Amino acid sequence: MEIIEIFGGRPLNGNVTVQGSKNAVLPMIAASILTDEKVVLKNCPHIDDVYTMLNLIEELGCRVNFENHVIEIDAGSIVCSEIKQEIAKKVRSSITFLGSLLGRCKKAKLPFPGGCTIGARPINLHIEMLEKMGVVFTERDDVLIASSKEIKGTNLKFYKKSVGAAQNCIMAAVLANGITRIKGIAVEPEVMELCSFLRKMGAVILRTDYDEIMIKGVDKLHGVTYDVPSDRIVAGTYMLAAAATRGEVFLKKAPASHLHSVIYTLKQVNAKIECLNNGIFIDGKNASKGIPYIATDNYPGFPTDLQSQLVSLLTVADSKSIIEEKIFEARFKVADQLNKMNANIYKGSSKLVVNPVKKLCGTRVVAEELRGGAALVIAGLMAEGRTTIDGCKYIRRGYEDIVNDFKAMGADIRTIGEHNGSNKHEKAKMENETGEKEKKNKDCYESVCCI
Ligand code: UD1
Repeated sequence: MEIIEIFGGRPLNGNVTVQGSKNAVLPMIAASILTDEKVVLKNCPHIDDVYTMLNLIEELGCRVNFENHVIEIDAGSIVCSEIKQEIAKKVRSSITFLGSLLGRCKKAKLPFPGGCTIGARPINLHIEMLEKMGVVFTERDDVLIASSKEIKGTNLKFYKKSVGAAQNCIMAAVLANGITRIKGIAVEPEVMELCSFLRKMGAVILRTDYDEIMIKGVDKLHGVTYDVPSDRIVAGTYMLAAAATRGEVFLKKAPASHLHSVIYTLKQVNAKIECLNNGIFIDGKNASKGIPYIATDNYPGFPTDLQSQLVSLLTVADSKSIIEEKIFEARFKVADQLNKMNANIYKGSSKLVVNPVKKLCGTRVVAEELRGGAALVIAGLMAEGRTTIDGCKYIRRGYEDIVNDFKAMGADIRTIGEHNGSNKHEKAKMENETGEKEKKNKDCYESVCCI
């Protein structure tokens, strides 16, 4: 079994490049089946959720190649509109195939999605909105069956913001008959990025107001080469880690324009932030203030995906903090693990009260979901002594190499135990790395022999 081991208590110091965005690339993979031409996605992170989505798209009959952070997808030979249950259960974003399969095949069969256990995560909005576009749904043995003779453009209005439901409606609408107007759309950067991606494939999408878009259905989309943006949540995680360890870190390619609420929050705790052309510099030497009250919210509010990491930072602040979770009701699991490390967190139904302590103490903790796992890594970096973290598989879903990134920032951190890679794309990457390592060793040996 693989665990992360950290000897904490020292400030981070150094710089790393932020990986490509998980939440941007996952719907783009699903959207790639909207054309029968080749799609090339650059700057893709090697993370488990990406591998799972690629497995799913291969099962549909697409040809896929993933090397050196570039994914190539050829959906010319798509043979099926059914998403495999065992694979789909691993990842929430399998639900984005609903919109893209409806767009391409006018039908879809997929299981109710999996993903992190952070709340109920219903899909009623996906269904209600697509029904308005002429899609008929039935349900059998935990499988959702959707079909439509003709997807029709119409007027949609979200009464609650949903990133995934917005992405599904957009994907269904780009090849629909007529015009779709969507009011109250989630304006997360990953929704807008999907629109840019589809526009580059020939879709007609206009942002008509702050949270309103208009889509004119076209007959056909074409192939595209697209650069996936940097991951704002990974950048935010590392910014919070820098502040939590009172360190100084430069994050190359951190997307400052999508991190306003995080920068604002870090300034509240007394961190200094400088946004430069090529990234963000963070000086967390004096980042010790508590936050009297903060709530997560839809973009541009403070992201729920950074709530747990913020809690780690606030455990040793110089005053009490209250954090309200407004997006996912069960996103407080990490508090129990942090309390095992000497934190003093009181869990209410939707709020956490973080009573500050002098220091965290290293111990054995267990990651139970992705962002909570990242929060435990931050806590391990802050804590005195040795911390070990089980449940690395959750962290690997979204962070390409959190251990080596923090090592590059000077942390005493390592992975212990083997992880052999659970699917084809990951194994290929690992073999490639081993090959490169062996080649380096061989070159090194040969150059020594030559001397
Ligand atoms: C996406 C992100 C996730 C992020 C979340 C909120 C991806 C792959 N995942 O998840 O990292 O934490 O946005 O920013 O991009 N809801 C309903 N009915 C629905 C759909 C959602 O009530 O049909 C509720 C959810 O329970 C939740 C809220 O709406 O309370 C937001 O969920 P949503 O925006 O849909 O999240 P995801 O797209 O699943």
